Amino acid sequence: MSEVSPERARGSTLITGIGLLCTEAEIGDIEGAAIVLEDDRIAWVGRAQDAPDADYRIDVDGRCVIPGFVDSHAHLVFAGERSEEFAARMAGERYSAGGIASTVTATRGATDDQLRHNVASLVRELHDNGCTTVEIKTGYGLTVADEQRAAEIAAEFTPEATFLGAHVVPTEFAEDPAGYVDLVTGPMLEACAPHSRWIDVFCDRGAFDADQARAIISAGQAKGLAVRLHANQLQHGPGIQVAVEVGAASADHCTYLDDADIDALANSETVATLLPGAEFSTRSPYPDARRLLDAGVRVALATDCNPGTSFTTSMPLCIALAVREMHMTPREALTAATTGGAAALRRDDVGRVEVGAHGDLLVLDAPNPIFLAYRPGVDVIRQVWRNGSLLMEKGRRDGVWE
Ligand code: NIG
Ligand code: FE
Repeated sequence: MSEVSPERARGSTLITGIGLLCTEAEIGDIEGAAIVLEDDRIAWVGRAQDAPDADYRIDVDGRCVIPGFVDSHAHLVFAGERSEEFAARMAGERYSAGGIASTVTATRGATDDQLRHNVASLVRELHDNGCTTVEIKTGYGLTVADEQRAAEIAAEFTPEATFLGAHVVPTEFAEDPAGYVDLVTGPMLEACAPHSRWIDVFCDRGAFDADQARAIISAGQAKGLAVRLHANQLQHGPGIQVAVEVGAASADHCTYLDDADIDALANSETVATLLPGAEFSTRSPYPDARRLLDAGVRVALATDCNPGTSFTTSMPLCIALAVREMHMTPREALTAATTGGAAALRRDDVGRVEVGAHGDLLVLDAPNPIFLAYRPGVDVIRQVWRNGSLLMEKGRRDGVWE
């Protein structure tokens, strides 16, 4: 066994000296742990003294290791920015779905390479911030050609590409929303389905109503797409009920909920994906995570990275907000950002440290995952491992707290 630069490692790698390993898997937490990575997967997990030999060895000096985060909700294919809109909101203006139109104009005017470059930059930021699995939505093209290229570009970066042609009705269809639904369920879906795993609809004030959402979802399902839904972000509405009714993997936002919504989610396989970056950046009330968790609803946390309501790629920020503002425990927030996100994507091979899962790990400059919320705004992620390779290592620091 030799100590080598892990970037060059081929074959198996033993990561040892793990002070606390939070597996988020059945095996539970392990103190004094080690992990063996082989190719892109986790080959062994256990106590360091029982670890098998491997080709290469890395000692993380007592640090905490957690699974890579799973960001199950991100809108990354866009051009332009909306900082002035953010500033106006902070001065008292209300967010409305109409703001999406300005990003649609900028996105339509961008070249493929500009869009690809923007997605690549944001994916790199997400990786740096510990997200090793990322979902990417279309939704800022809203023509057949612009949605198709958005889906194609998204699929270059992730198997979790989502067709969101039903983001808003574009201005050219303002007088004919039914015509736009026909376009989305017809030629646009036809062009985007081959590049997408998911279909999503923004079912909310200023976007699509329940009947429109049902029509779009069933067309998507007929094309083999699985469903996720933007629901109840801006006001209470039918979004959660529609999500549960159609068997969506996830109902996202869940900012405005009543008892019936919570009951419906608790009795379903639909994950409630909470996006506190959006409430932070629109100065809206946070969703009642405590009520959802206490009712037994499966909860995920995601960034909602987009230029309008949540221009962040930081899952640690979302975790800190979930703990401080949404009354989740630090551990519930970690679970929501890892296995919760995986459940929202119907995946069991990411978001957990167990044999057979992807080799996606974060080494923290911290003794435990509480530090993700306890040190808000401080980057505590020291190493990011993705698919068994060291993707990123931050500069040396003084080390873990004694
Ligand atoms: O998830 N809610 C709809 N879509 C985005 C916002 C998009 C935008 O304002 O550009 C969201 O918050
Ligand atoms: Fe969103």
